[in-house]
Amino acid sequence: MLKILAIESSCDETAAALVGDGHLVLSDAVATQIDIHRKYGGVVPELASRNHLVDAIPVVEEALTSADATWNDVDAMAVTRGPGLVGSLLVGLQVAKALAYAKQKPLIPVHHLQGHMQAVFLHKEGEPRPESPGYPHVALAVSGGHTALYLVSSPTQIRQIAHTRDDAAGEAFDKVSRMLGLGYPGGPIVERGAKGGNEKAFKFTRPHFKDGDPLDFSFSGLKTAVLTVLKKFGAPPEGQDLADLLASFQHAVCDQLVERTLEAAKHFGCKHAVLAGGVACNGALRRLMQETLSGEGIALHMPRPRWCTDNAAMIGAAAWHRDQVPGSRLTGEALRSLNAVGNWDIGENL
Ligand code: KG4
Ligand code: ZN
Repeated sequence: MLKILAIESSCDETAAALVGDGHLVLSDAVATQIDIHRKYGGVVPELASRNHLVDAIPVVEEALTSADATWNDVDAMAVTRGPGLVGSLLVGLQVAKALAYAKQKPLIPVHHLQGHMQAVFLHKEGEPRPESPGYPHVALAVSGGHTALYLVSSPTQIRQIAHTRDDAAGEAFDKVSRMLGLGYPGGPIVERGAKGGNEKAFKFTRPHFKDGDPLDFSFSGLKTAVLTVLKKFGAPPEGQDLADLLASFQHAVCDQLVERTLEAAKHFGCKHAVLAGGVACNGALRRLMQETLSGEGIALHMPRPRWCTDNAAMIGAAAWHRDQVPGSRLTGEALRSLNAVGNWDIGENL
């Protein structure tokens, strides 16, 4: 079994994991900074970078010890190269480069969104191995920083086909929660608050584009529509009115995500689809996507919720697939000179 030690630090989680053959999670360590950023209502980039610096080495050590492994067991290393917060990425990348150099391991740089999508392969010892999605399939990666659809022709041939023109869906959850004074991160809070609410209580319209790609997403109009309700009626106190507002908002987000994913799958003739990223933890979204796609004969694959939010196991899974492409393993001078972080094209190998 090929064992990859992966590091992820693109936002506010410092994570390291040991993954066997791109699917078996041997360990999965995460130091979350949620409590640090909560009082600011969102991630403060400089604080995130500084805390990655504190947590990176202990998290890597924890990933090895909790897998009962040593450096001798590690065949290769992997690291998130982007997209994400540049300061955060730089810390993870430099730690990974230094360890790979010192321990004489090849390093595989990974696209963060490929990681999210390929979390569908992950399981732990004793858990059934998830069925792999067939190809080609469409993948919706939906998180706090990204909302995009991809056409996945093979594990390493991935092309973006639509993206958000403004906010990411997770960002909309976070901002609506903040507007209502409910706390951070907004996604799980809104989901809990929407329980028992009537999703038809408020009519929020869905965006439709006449120009450019009709599959593109938009969530800023929805956020403004919620704000308009608050200005008109005031923030509802806890109770049925609040649950109705949250359920209507959540449904409008889910409906748009599901509608676009279905349209894309039909357009590209895909019989399989993947739903991944932090927002894919949302039970209402998982249910609506499952119901809608299965009604159309499309098989839906979703990572287990613990691997939907940022983690390093997904980077280990994606690295194993990238490793099939010649030139993906960096050693020697290529490793020493790897310097680019931030935005890179998912179709690009390096
Ligand atoms: O993938 P992720 O951990 O980080 C990024 O790559 O952005 O996603 C974090 C986002 C946050 O915006 C959070 O509010 C959202 O995922 N999220 C959820 C839920 N759990 C996390 N959104 C809706 N419902 C949830 N249950
Ligand atoms: Zn992410």
